[in-house]
Amino acid sequence: MRTSIAGTGSYLPDRVLTNADLEKMVDTTDEWILSRTGISERRIAAPEQATSDLAIEAGRMALEMAGLEGGEIDLIIVATLTPDYLFPSTAGLVQRALGAHRAAAFDLEAACTGFIYALAIGDLFVSSGKYSRVLVIGAEVLSRFLDWEDRNTCVLFGDGAGAAVLVPSEDGIRGIVSTHLHNDGRMAELLHAPAGGSRRPTDAEALAQKLYTVKMQGNEVFKIAVTKLSDVVDEILDANGLKEEDVDFLVPHQANLRIIKATARKLRLPMDKVIVTVDRHGNTSAASVPLALDEAVRSNRIRSGDTVLLEAFGGGLTWGGALVNW
Ligand code: ACO
Repeated sequence: MRTSIAGTGSYLPDRVLTNADLEKMVDTTDEWILSRTGISERRIAAPEQATSDLAIEAGRMALEMAGLEGGEIDLIIVATLTPDYLFPSTAGLVQRALGAHRAAAFDLEAACTGFIYALAIGDLFVSSGKYSRVLVIGAEVLSRFLDWEDRNTCVLFGDGAGAAVLVPSEDGIRGIVSTHLHNDGRMAELLHAPAGGSRRPTDAEALAQKLYTVKMQGNEVFKIAVTKLSDVVDEILDANGLKEEDVDFLVPHQANLRIIKATARKLRLPMDKVIVTVDRHGNTSAASVPLALDEAVRSNRIRSGDTVLLEAFGGGLTWGGALVNW
């Protein structure tokens, strides 16, 4: 049985942080950020907002588009690396707020590839017949885990959430065609938060050194991301017997416009067939793909019958993709 996406939703906090604002905070320029990353601005959660608050709003919108009530959902998966708490899960908090009392709920952590992982697992539950209504969400409040004095990282990220409702495909044609997941733990420390877990709790020294914040060897990650995303595009096309020209839209992870353009070139897709939100959202990690997808669906760019390729790359190192017959 094939799984289709019956609804999408997204949420962005109100506060906009522009490159000009960042120029006043760290030694950077709008020109550097824009030319190296493609980012002009990003959203920052209000002090009282946690990841579940963003996830709930995105989930609500996706349910509304799908014409479903919370009580009809069987499973909620929240992909995040910035959960509200160590435990209980953010998905459980979303379940409570949406009145999804019948639903099983758990969080999934695959950094920026989290939504692709969540989509793949949700797809397995639906296509196996185990569940028929699954809500998958990618949500992050990364702004709480950034060193706002480190220009190498603080200019890159933003907060947000995106969601999708998965149901059995009515015609067996529309829906998720294939999913592809990867991880290489040998490079785990290229992109990580050294403290805040059981290896290094956030003690006074870790706090003083801000070791609970994102540390990234950006240029190394950049090179690997371009290669692995090119590989995963080949893998998706080969697995489905497709050629580059069979893909109508690319919905990429929004980390860096240069990485997005490299993947678009690989697919020989003009940029008007690539959904780009990195300019306004920055890198929202697990939220970036569903945020971009929701924008493309609601603006009627992606339409029924389109072949859509989703991909992401992030900490782990993780990467993956999915092909969807929209
Ligand atoms: N403003 C001005 N200068 C800066 C800034 C800044 N904000 N940040 C870095 N620089 C400087 C560096 O200090 C360096 O200076 P130096 O040459 O004097 O040492 C110079 O700019 C070049 O630095 P690089 O790191 O080589 O710059 P690069 O062109 O690689 O761009 C970037 C950096 C944007 C981080 C890029 O490498 C990138 O996008 N990497 C991939 C990020 C990614 O995909 N992450 C995965 C997902 S994230 C997740 O999973 C949480």
